[in-house]
Amino acid sequence: MGKVAYFVDLQPDLEDFLSAVVKGFSSSRKSLPPKFFYDAYGSQVFDRICATPEYYVTRTEIGLMKDIGAEIGALAGPQNVVVEYGCGSSLKIHALLEALIDPAEYLAIDISKQHLINTVEEIVADYPDLRVGAICADFSASFDWPPEADQSGSRRLAYFPGSTIGNQMPAEAAQFLISVRRLIGEGGSLLIGVDLKKDIGVLNRAYNDAAGHTADFNLNLLRRINNELGASIDLSSFEHRAYFNAEKSRIEMHLESNIDQTVDIDGRTFSFKSGETIHTENSYKYSLAEFSELAEKCGFKPRKAWTDADDFFSIHYLDAR
Ligand code: AVI
Repeated sequence: MGKVAYFVDLQPDLEDFLSAVVKGFSSSRKSLPPKFFYDAYGSQVFDRICATPEYYVTRTEIGLMKDIGAEIGALAGPQNVVVEYGCGSSLKIHALLEALIDPAEYLAIDISKQHLINTVEEIVADYPDLRVGAICADFSASFDWPPEADQSGSRRLAYFPGSTIGNQMPAEAAQFLISVRRLIGEGGSLLIGVDLKKDIGVLNRAYNDAAGHTADFNLNLLRRINNELGASIDLSSFEHRAYFNAEKSRIEMHLESNIDQTVDIDGRTFSFKSGETIHTENSYKYSLAEFSELAEKCGFKPRKAWTDADDFFSIHYLDAR
């Protein structure tokens, strides 16, 4: 079996859960950062969401990746260093590596050390001849390219699937694109999955699946507060709410208290009125033109964008300008 060529730990500043909860619950509009969805249980539930008939996102992107593989391979040319941001679905990265001609290296960047280890070990096992490395870093913050990575000087192809960019506020998304552009340098490219605006019914159903997995995913934040911070919130006193906010072009997820109540966490008491919500996630939906325009502003030249037959999801190939 091959070996991971390098593992660089930039020791990202992991905001601790307690501080994030206290900060989010102390605000007049309560909120929690969506990154806390993904503990071991939350990650499993996310996989269940991806398999529901209502959540078209993952299925559509994987199908599209398979359909356009040859075109991606032709646009990218041979010997790319593939830089995956936030290593996610192994089906998607496999589809990309299969599509590329003789990739030079695979480099995964993720804030979670364990997630990174699992991903690179899997890629090493599946592609024993490929140089594989990892950087443990917060990719929403800017960081420098470590000397161990990509010694070949090959062109860099960044990959950011899943429409995870939609979970960032537009200003953060722009910051992120600018930092990717800086990291890939002249001659580099970015392949990015972006969910599209569509019929509101389709969107609302995707975030309110009948089996209740999205509700379970959302409520997992409260489960974590109970398990990790010693609280005793009655999960049935909060309801999952997800709806499309057309003005902001985003799905908003909230947890709505269905009674007046107080919640004790680490010696502090937070009160909730009946109907008050904790805003837990935004998932922005773009038009093709809006996303291309954003990418252009951030130093990219759009080369090609593909959509599936229903125009539900898009994949953009962008060159560094
Ligand atoms: C990871 N991210 C792109 C998902 C989304 O669709 O915004 C997270 C998610 N939240 C609820 N369902 C899925």
